[in-house]
Amino acid sequence: MLPPSLQPGTVTLAGSGQRLAWKPGTATILQLLHDAGVPHPAGCQEGDCGACTTPLLGGRVAYTSSPNAMHDDHTCLPCCCRPVGDVVLEA
Ligand code: FES
Repeated sequence: MLPPSLQPGTVTLAGSGQRLAWKPGTATILQLLHDAGVPHPAGCQEGDCGACTTPLLGGRVAYTSSPNAMHDDHTCLPCCCRPVGDVVLEA
């Protein structure tokens, strides 16, 4: 079991201030957003196209697979990652 600091935490959307608590069984941040009714652009949902690229304003994420789309420490691909602790997205 991961230590508490590495468990998925809350995803905060900087634009609206909405805070989404991670739910067990959720696969990705994109799924968390869509399950909450938050529209977010997406395409391949496999980390290949970059359509979901989102600035990561705080925290860090862990990828569930190795994405091919460009990303760095300041962006994430919500279709194939989950939060490590709490994160803030520019969304
Ligand atoms: S939807 Fe294609 S990289 Fe995320």
